[in-house]
Amino acid sequence: MTTAEPRRCIFITGAASGIGRATALLFAERGWFVGALDVDETGLGTLQAESQIGLARRLDVTDPQDYRAAVAAFAEHTGGRLDILFNNAGIIASSPLDEAPWEAVERLLRINLFGVMIGMQTALPLLKATPGSLCFSTCSASAIFGSANLTAYSASKHAVKGLTEALSIELKKHGVRAADVLPGIVDTAMLPPETRAMLPPDGPWRLVTPREVAEVVWRAYDEDRIHWYVPPELKDFHLMAVSEPEKARDYFISLGRG
Ligand code: NAI
Repeated sequence: MTTAEPRRCIFITGAASGIGRATALLFAERGWFVGALDVDETGLGTLQAESQIGLARRLDVTDPQDYRAAVAAFAEHTGGRLDILFNNAGIIASSPLDEAPWEAVERLLRINLFGVMIGMQTALPLLKATPGSLCFSTCSASAIFGSANLTAYSASKHAVKGLTEALSIELKKHGVRAADVLPGIVDTAMLPPETRAMLPPDGPWRLVTPREVAEVVWRAYDEDRIHWYVPPELKDFHLMAVSEPEKARDYFISLGRG
């Protein structure tokens, strides 16, 4: 006699738009219980109208108390199960560091870094209680080599990559994996329209769809890999940037990104 497979479940932050939304749609299509969390309640409403979303709830990832309540609400639906925590909510802010209002720098770090750490801390008991679970985060190509005029953003994404690596060791004994995705340039609301027009048709800096990133989240559940690249060509860029960082710097300067 075989026992029935439990229904898998994913908790997605930043689910109202872009990568989070595409991931929510993909996992819901494939039968998972999806918890969709975001500050944007209108976007969550649209998502819910389009798909079988198990739980759609407002959550500001910077608020630990709100996060605890959201995880508790999710656990009530899933019987305490959490197969994937997807730390995806994030913002971007562009300006040279010395021109950035300090409040904007702090806000970005609160969302992109502390929001991820709060999520990890809060959801870890559920992850540890769920066999084969995965703590997955959206990093960025800005975590490969910092991006000019995106200093706080680059710092936040390098930090998330470090968190992932540290947790990949720390959580091993609990049977929980930690991994992240480093997307290049994704066609979402975050992308300035003028950037879209300048992109090459192929290679690591081509425009990718949110669905391509969502497919990687799907694959990451089954494959034990710490860093995922979208598009995959970014891995070669990463190897180059590690071995010859001056070459990476000069490459970006030659593209006029100084
Ligand atoms: P998006 O702007 O379409 O989606 C981001 C979502 O996060 C929005 O729905 C927003 O309401 C939500 N959010 C913002 N602050 C929040 C908070 N405090 N609490 C809860 N939700 C909050 O952008 P996209 O591109 O889908 O971004 C998702 C992730 O992908 C971000 O972490 C971003 O840094 C990362 N990323 C995006 C790239 C791109 O080119 N679009 C490239 C590399 C990484």
